[in-house]
Amino acid sequence: MRFPSRLVAGLLLLLPVFALGAASSYPLESMRPDHSNLPSLQRGAALYMNYCLGCHSLQHQRHNRTAEDLGIPEDLYREYLLFDDVDIGTHITNAMPNLGAREWFGVAPPDLTMVTRVRGSAWVYTFLKSFYLDASRPFGVNNALFENVGMPHALIELQGVPRLNCNGGSCDGIEVEEGTGMMSASDYERAVYDLVNFLDYTGEPYKQDRQRIGIYVLLFLVILFVFTFLLGREYHKEVH
Ligand code: HEC
Repeated sequence: MRFPSRLVAGLLLLLPVFALGAASSYPLESMRPDHSNLPSLQRGAALYMNYCLGCHSLQHQRHNRTAEDLGIPEDLYREYLLFDDVDIGTHITNAMPNLGAREWFGVAPPDLTMVTRVRGSAWVYTFLKSFYLDASRPFGVNNALFENVGMPHALIELQGVPRLNCNGGSCDGIEVEEGTGMMSASDYERAVYDLVNFLDYTGEPYKQDRQRIGIYVLLFLVILFVFTFLLGREYHKEVH
């Protein structure tokens, strides 16, 4: 019997649907990056250098470019955001040896310069809010969005102790034990927002420039339209 080729083609078309189905169904929270909010980007950069850079580099981004874009004077950047003898002109790297990292975590921590472009900023935002205690995992935590993640909860001292909210058989949402973190729930939310805002900026450092140039281009087109219109009217007069 010949296999009907239309049926095969139809089944192949369905493949992407199955691939989507395999991804986590955990709902993403919305997150709207704002690169014009410099205080947010500055706080995000500070959090990143303190809590993430130890494991994750930002190797496509330079320190001095970051300082300039975020409006941080270089001497302050040096004092508060650079470690010891790092040159401000270099890329944002760390000293974590790849092989050692693979042994410690099972996987090497990926570079995060482009992470919001690969995963989306809503994904990264939700990820950082979805850690919960799980004694069966090597670091004592799991992640509701990224199951069995090989990363410890880097912000646990800020957030406090998060537990998975379970009722009967189904679990949804994270609840933080009161008084266990340095930050209130809303402060933690803001901190995670700032961090992801900063990561969104490193993924697309030209976004601000692009938007500004876009406005100039539109203004230029409006002015050009006025002159074209007037010129058209002049020509029209001659025709009659
Ligand atoms: C102690 C080391 C360590 C620290 C500190 C750390 N991470 Fe991670 N992170 C990892 C490892 C290891 C992975 C890979 C996990 C895996 O694939 O299972 C990871 C994965 C991630 C991912 C998922 C990347 C992807 O696309 O799969 C994101 C996003 C992330 N980390 C963000 C952060 C942020 C933001 C911070 C700072 C608040 C941070 N990490 C601090 C070790 C770390």
